[in-house]
Amino acid sequence: MKKNEATRGRFIVLDGPDGAGKSTQVKLLAAELEKRGVTVKSLREPGGTALGEAIRALLLNQTTIHIDALAEAFLFQAARAHLIREVVGPALERGEWIICDRFTLSTLVYQGYAGGIKKKIIKQLSSAAIDGVKPDAYIVLTLPAKTSVDRRANRSADRMESKGETYLKNVFNGFATESKKRGSPYKKVDGQGTVEEVQKRIWSHIERVLTAVQSSKFKVNGTIGFTLRACKIIN
Ligand code: TYD
Repeated sequence: MKKNEATRGRFIVLDGPDGAGKSTQVKLLAAELEKRGVTVKSLREPGGTALGEAIRALLLNQTTIHIDALAEAFLFQAARAHLIREVVGPALERGEWIICDRFTLSTLVYQGYAGGIKKKIIKQLSSAAIDGVKPDAYIVLTLPAKTSVDRRANRSADRMESKGETYLKNVFNGFATESKKRGSPYKKVDGQGTVEEVQKRIWSHIERVLTAVQSSKFKVNGTIGFTLRACKIIN
């Protein structure tokens, strides 16, 4: 992002295992930010563009076409590359905020930890796909595997959710391992409890991002002027 750090939009990701309540929390977070005058675009991965939604349908909603594990990783990354270049990058440049349901950690965990593709390859593909566009806040919702299974008991499983118990176990292990070793902008948030409780936990973190942006804008408009971005990102 070359544009002025104070005026560019901010990129927030909500990630975590299936059943963590991400999509509900994306909506609530967007509403909270909009109440404060922030222009927000909510997206999901894979998806967010016509091509991304077509790839999503191929990856999640069908079982007749076999998809090899490496090909699967490329498809998730292709949807991401398109989303970043067509939607996320330009929106951030315009000063809009992005909230994205899943991002690079999902690929590392699902296709790497659980799917068996070398993590180095996943990271290289992610790096190419994101094209330098990096999240300012990356929330990883955590919850026990049993809670995830219980929460999803009444809905039908998609192609990824039908990969079996070992796959699921590796997904949980992947999120736990990665979220433990990552610092800012990654932030582990407990996904257990009521929707309101989880929402409060997420907001207490994002509010700090908003306050930092507002104070940097103030300083830029005043006499000081400084660069906000201090986050180191590891993908
Ligand atoms: P999600 O939209 O969270 O599922 P739902 O519609 O059930 O809420 O995520 C879609 C699925 O795709 C989910 O099982 C995780 C998987 N996924 C990957 O395997 N790799 C990826 O890179 C991404 C972004 C998602």
